[in-house]
Amino acid sequence: MQNIEENKSLKAFNSFGFEAKARYFAAPDSDEKIMALLAYAKKHDIPVFVLGGGNNVVFAKDFDGLVLCPKMNGINIISENDNDIFIDVGAGFEWDKFVRYTSFLNYKGVCGIENLSGIPGTVGAAPVQNIGAYGMEVKDTIFTVNGIFIDDIKTFLLKNSKCEFAYRDSIFKNSLKQKTVITCVTFKLSKKHEYKLDYGNLKDELAKYDKIDLRNIRQTILDIRATKLPDPKELGNAGSFFKNPVVERTTAERLLEQFPSIPVYPADSTDASRNKVKLSAGWMIENCALKGYRQNNIGVHHKQALILVNYGGGTAQELMSFAQMAQDKVFDKFGVKIEPEVVIVN
Ligand code: EPU
Repeated sequence: MQNIEENKSLKAFNSFGFEAKARYFAAPDSDEKIMALLAYAKKHDIPVFVLGGGNNVVFAKDFDGLVLCPKMNGINIISENDNDIFIDVGAGFEWDKFVRYTSFLNYKGVCGIENLSGIPGTVGAAPVQNIGAYGMEVKDTIFTVNGIFIDDIKTFLLKNSKCEFAYRDSIFKNSLKQKTVITCVTFKLSKKHEYKLDYGNLKDELAKYDKIDLRNIRQTILDIRATKLPDPKELGNAGSFFKNPVVERTTAERLLEQFPSIPVYPADSTDASRNKVKLSAGWMIENCALKGYRQNNIGVHHKQALILVNYGGGTAQELMSFAQMAQDKVFDKFGVKIEPEVVIVN
């Protein structure tokens, strides 16, 4: 089969920079090429793993199958009205380049994803874990997700309401986990400029500009991120390693008695209706005295305790046992289980 590489090192394809090999690797740039590759894999009984930018995965061992890295890179405005603009974006398009594009579109920019500036990864990966930051989630701008089912090699188009979006979660992490290749996402962005500035110190940081507009918001988010989050190009990491745990309100109340300063946030609407709230995993890890803690080549980042880093030369095995140690410590102290947000491939 053309365009398939064998025994490909994935070191450059995962932001932790761990060494692992894919038996086969392909980076197709069209739906037709993806379909041909899926047909080949099916015929030869080869398992398929779909990889975006590799910013949220840990390859715990070599992958004995085909790693497929979609490269479709087109952007098309498909329609617009007085309020909204609908844009198709290829799965391989770099997420942050798309955010930048939207901040200049129609001169003033179009709204909805500006707070998601600076998140590494591809457009195709964004719906999978419903990327979110600074009070915004991508689910609020996704109109449809287009893709191909790996099993029967048929195309699909899922409306937003069918994607089962929730906090860092979607149907693509559950019933459709590793069953689809997302090829293109249609976004609905707003021409009306209504900003979300209530998260953390965003408003204060914006005060240094003479006006609040999309480009200044974007720059402020990029600046805040640069002060807190390590750049994966300089220090191997996958952003937040753990999810913020969603717990019963009564659990949070019990914890608040014992730890009065523990941050408690509202959960998203489905969970909130079930009387659940969200805790800060970063705060709990920090309060287990793990912030900045390092064992050999793996550690907790010194500015953001939710991020585990590979100082260089670390292995996935070291990372996994380090993560387990952090999970155990948090559980022993707070009685709360924290779960990885990253996808572990083993
Ligand atoms: N906190 C600590 N110590 C830490 C980190 C956090 O005490 O080391 C506490 C603080 O009280 C802080 C609160 O946690 O006020 C919230 O912290 P922060 O705003 O840094 O956000 P986070 O909950 O730690 C989440 C996302 C990040 C996203 C930020 C900002 C998850 C799993 N992580 O982190 O997303 O950038 O909010 O919106 O929801 C990512 O997914 O890779 C990611 C970086």
